[in-house]
Amino acid sequence: ESYDMGGHDTYMHKEISEQAEAVDRVLRGRIDDRFSTVHLGGLNLEPGEARRVRRIKILGCGTSYHAGQIGAGLIEELARIPADAEPASEFRYRNPVVDPDTLYVAVSQSGETYDVLAAVQELKRKGARVLGVVNVVGSAIAREADGGTYVHAGPEVCVVSTKCFTNTVVAFALLALHLGRIRDLSVADGKRIIEGLRRLPGQIDEILKTEPEIKQLARRYADAKSMLFIGRVRGYPVAREASLKLKEVSYIHAEAYPASELKHGPLALIDPSMPTVAIVPDDDLLEKNRAAMEEIKARSGRILAVAHQPQEKADDTIIVPKNENELDPILMGIPLQLFAYHTALALGRDIDKPRNLAKSVTVE
Ligand code: G6P
Repeated sequence: ESYDMGGHDTYMHKEISEQAEAVDRVLRGRIDDRFSTVHLGGLNLEPGEARRVRRIKILGCGTSYHAGQIGAGLIEELARIPADAEPASEFRYRNPVVDPDTLYVAVSQSGETYDVLAAVQELKRKGARVLGVVNVVGSAIAREADGGTYVHAGPEVCVVSTKCFTNTVVAFALLALHLGRIRDLSVADGKRIIEGLRRLPGQIDEILKTEPEIKQLARRYADAKSMLFIGRVRGYPVAREASLKLKEVSYIHAEAYPASELKHGPLALIDPSMPTVAIVPDDDLLEKNRAAMEEIKARSGRILAVAHQPQEKADDTIIVPKNENELDPILMGIPLQLFAYHTALALGRDIDKPRNLAKSVTVE
């Protein structure tokens, strides 16, 4: 932990602030404009093999699991391969059916999380093909996997993961684009996604510039005992990660729910003391998300929206720059990292080392 804090008061703040350059690093040297695709040198997956994959199963823990959930969505959207993410710990204890047509992907910042490593070893023993999406070069999971891609986030010291989360999702976007272009993603769509990826670093900088306003908001919401995070489809894993971030660093209870499930339970909790953070991208589900906010307003709930345009149902809105619909989740979580950070700061928490948590869990 001898890395320089570079003038920041915590590693968390430093790492949040480094995300534009980190994303630039994961993209560098990989984009192939001629064929509107990307090259991922270490994948070890021939086009013929890639075409035979019928399913993708992503395994990780904590924040890496959430990055994998967004990754699964990207793979389904861009490559049209059925994909889902599962906590590695659950997977390895339920005697999973290991299918030869499934490609397994292990996700880990440290590359040392025991549950992920054990899942990889079990899969390999059963003859499965396992790729790693890992940050630490040469780590156990990277060595054990058949191939994969490094996420190049650089060293991450704060126990809670921020820049590695963002880079992992971008690495999944690259994998999804690569698989998509081997399968049915058109040249035009490949080009559209590449242009979107190239816009990310500048858009991340724009988000980071809004920190003073996010800090004010965080102070206003820091008195909550509990917060609800909602999102739908692309926005749901963003809500889950934002909720995890808030609870890890601020110790405020937070729960994420699909916006579509509000009426099946969480609405009972809504009152003026229970704020909701709503992920509201400007996509085909905008009206549905607005309707969910209306339901909350009708019960006097406070709403903080993260959106691409002002939301009249929300009490406060953090506006983020718009990218391609598929890539929006990459940007929408970033202001909520700052929100979690400033909430924890306002409450005087030990930001880089939250109580009871470790950076990597290398035991069972
Ligand atoms: C711990 C950390 C989390 C991290 C998770 C998985 O719980 O506190 O921040 O997301 O482990 O770690 P990994 O290194 O596998 O991504």
